[in-house]
Amino acid sequence: MKATAKAHTNIALIKYWGKRNEELILPTNNSLSITLDGFHTITNVSFKEELTNDVFYLNDSFVQGEQADRVTKFLNLVRDLAGRYVFAEVKSVNAVPTAAGFASSASGFAALAAASTKAVGLNLSDEQLSRLTRQGSGSACRSIYGGFAEWQKGEKEDGSDSFAVPVVAKDHWDIRVAAVVLSSKMKKVSSRAGMKRTVETSPFFKGWVESIPADLQSIKEGILERDFTKVGEIAEANCLKMHATTLGASPPFTYWLDTTVTVMQTVKQLRDSGIPAYFTIDAGPNVKVLYLPEYEVQIKQALQSIQGVADVKLSRVGQGITYLGDE
Ligand code: DP6
Repeated sequence: MKATAKAHTNIALIKYWGKRNEELILPTNNSLSITLDGFHTITNVSFKEELTNDVFYLNDSFVQGEQADRVTKFLNLVRDLAGRYVFAEVKSVNAVPTAAGFASSASGFAALAAASTKAVGLNLSDEQLSRLTRQGSGSACRSIYGGFAEWQKGEKEDGSDSFAVPVVAKDHWDIRVAAVVLSSKMKKVSSRAGMKRTVETSPFFKGWVESIPADLQSIKEGILERDFTKVGEIAEANCLKMHATTLGASPPFTYWLDTTVTVMQTVKQLRDSGIPAYFTIDAGPNVKVLYLPEYEVQIKQALQSIQGVADVKLSRVGQGITYLGDE
């Protein structure tokens, strides 16, 4: 009754922003991401008859409160699916800077879903696993796969047709991502709260949703053609549209800091000087920069020299769920 799984986080090029059902985590739009190497979570789940509740350790620290409640809520889904009502000990180790806009919930819930279903004896297909993972955290359903994945929002009320699928083979394209970590932090509006406020109050939300199908179609063509300019332009514009919806919310908010904007301007300057690079930003101040391998040295140098940048972590396309042998 135990298993260990490793999952990587992912960065969306077409963002998931807005839910049509908060309980089941059903999105208002399809989204598309790259799974990233380097940023991962390894989770060990042991179901034990002697436990009287679930216990959760993150990076060797015992966790209580909201984070632990989300783990238990997810394990309840797994127990219902398996028809086995046993509590679990969950030990997660995160190689993702938590709450720094690196979507640690994506690798976290993907690893939890994979390890817990394996430990309880369920043998799920990728599609079934993605659908289940979605209910822990939406973006996590894309991390089941390596490479480029698309989360199909689905139409059904029960969410049975809302899960991610691979877009191309994992090794289709060696595209790179530099994660730019800023030194100053701010009080965070979580992605969950941010998208809720946007859906409920932003007049720009309708335009955002309507713009998705065209973005999605073009970016998929760009990925198939390995057309970096096309993919970068669409990803950057899609990110800007998502962030524009937050400015229209009531009360308005933004995830950007002054250094966020400086990084965005640097990326533009790199492009103007003939080095292809495009940015994307999630629900936080940090920026991810898309680039091609041959420009790695210049990209790293330019980003590191920006005042207010604490670190630049380079990443490439990562793989999907893997199981580590201890069962
Ligand atoms: C901006 O997946 O963290 O990163 O489903 O409420 O857990 P919940 O939200 P979450 O939202 C991620 C939003 C985003 C865009 C994206 O990853 O597509």
